Amino acid sequence: MTRVSTTDVRQMKQRGEKIVMMTAYDCPTGRLVEQGGADVILVGDTLGMVVLGYDSTLPVTMEDMIHHTKAVVRGTGHALVVGDMPFMSYQTGWQDAMRNAARFIQEAGCGAVKLEGGVRSAETVQKLVEAGIPVMGHIGLTPQSVNQFGGFKVQGKTPAAAVQLMHDAQALEQAGAFSIVLETIPAPLAELLTQRLSVPTIGIGAGAGCDGQVQVFHDMLGMFEAFVPKHAGRYAEIGEAIRDAVRRYAQDVRSGAFPTEKQSFRMDPAALAELRPGGAGTIGRRHALGLDA
Ligand code: KIV
Repeated sequence: MTRVSTTDVRQMKQRGEKIVMMTAYDCPTGRLVEQGGADVILVGDTLGMVVLGYDSTLPVTMEDMIHHTKAVVRGTGHALVVGDMPFMSYQTGWQDAMRNAARFIQEAGCGAVKLEGGVRSAETVQKLVEAGIPVMGHIGLTPQSVNQFGGFKVQGKTPAAAVQLMHDAQALEQAGAFSIVLETIPAPLAELLTQRLSVPTIGIGAGAGCDGQVQVFHDMLGMFEAFVPKHAGRYAEIGEAIRDAVRRYAQDVRSGAFPTEKQSFRMDPAALAELRPGGAGTIGRRHALGLDA
């Protein structure tokens, strides 16, 4: 099976084919997302919020990311797997970025990395691309800057902010990014950017005018319940399905209805008889089993 390449992703824009991207954080969810038909799987640093229980993405480390990305790569064979560079793995200079991005490629087996920021990250993107590491950009509401934004707020609403986003997108394109995530920006602005850029845009909370869409696995499937972002499409209620299954299991254990014969293992009755008090060979067996120790 061949993997979707970054060239394939660029060509999808040229053909007017929508790009389907979703996050996954482990082997079984990576497998399911791929089997469901995602072209690109992002091992996002949203890991921190939806899996590790932090209230932002800031505490996520390279070790966390590599560990989870390896699992997703093991569970997939076709989708392009993109590793998300966590906070402070690239902001400290392009040399650090190079070392950390290389780990996503060499250790985790990703096909590309993603990092946040436009103009400010362009030099880093260029260096990584020159070294043969494909980079997905990410602008708009970049969660690693949540403290600077004063919360998870829509970006690019004023003319000045919108112009800045245009500069950011162009800088990433010129630096060689193969695609750009647009997060939580007005839909008409995202559409304008999509028209102006030659590389695909992938939206999340950026309207239908982008070249593709990305959703966070746990938001989409009802498995993250601390809050529901406005941009989340809800396609299933897996959280409730899990709770319901566990409730029924707990009831069955407490009532003795689980396990049944079906989940139990049999034993040769003669062997069992030997273990019973007074059974043939009882003493030897009891000794072997350490019951008389
Ligand atoms: O970390 C993540 O999941 C992301 C997406 C929301 C684009 O960056």
